[in-house]
Amino acid sequence: MVLAAMGLMIIPDPLAADDLFDYGAYLSSECTSCHRLDGGGDITIPPIIGWPEDIFIQTIDRYRRGVLTNAIMQNVARSLGEEETAALARFFSQQENRE
Ligand code: HEC
Repeated sequence: MVLAAMGLMIIPDPLAADDLFDYGAYLSSECTSCHRLDGGGDITIPPIIGWPEDIFIQTIDRYRRGVLTNAIMQNVARSLGEEETAALARFFSQQENRE
C-alpha cells in the first residue's frame, strides 16, 4: 500500500484510464470485505457498483466532510486520497450486477 502510494507520486498527472481502473481494483479489497462485488447487498450494506463516477466521488466526499454521518464510512472516506477515490469510482462503476 505504502509502496503503491509512493509509486503514484512519481507518475505525472492523471493516471492513464487503465491504470486508474487497475489501481481501483487493487484498492477495492478495502471495500469488498463489506460491499459485495456482485451487486448484492441490503439496507445495512448497500451495493456500490455501477454508479456514475462523479456521483460515487461526491458521495465519498460527503462522508469525508461529515454531511453523511455513518461513522464507518466517514473513517473509510477520510482514509482515502483524491486519486484513490477516483480509482475506486472507476473500478466500481464498471462492475456489472451479477446477483
Ligand atoms: C466495515 C464495512 C465497510 C467498509 C470496509 C466499507 N464500507 Fe462503504 N458502506 C458501509 C455501510 C454500512 C454503508 C451505509 C452507510 C450509511 O447508511 O450511510 C456504506 C455506504 C457506502 C456508500 C454509499 C452507498 C449508498 O447507497 O448510499 C459508498 C459509495 C461506499 N460505502 C463506498 C465504500 C468504499 C469505496 C469502500 C472502500 C474504500 C467502502 N465503502 C468500505 C460499510 C462499509
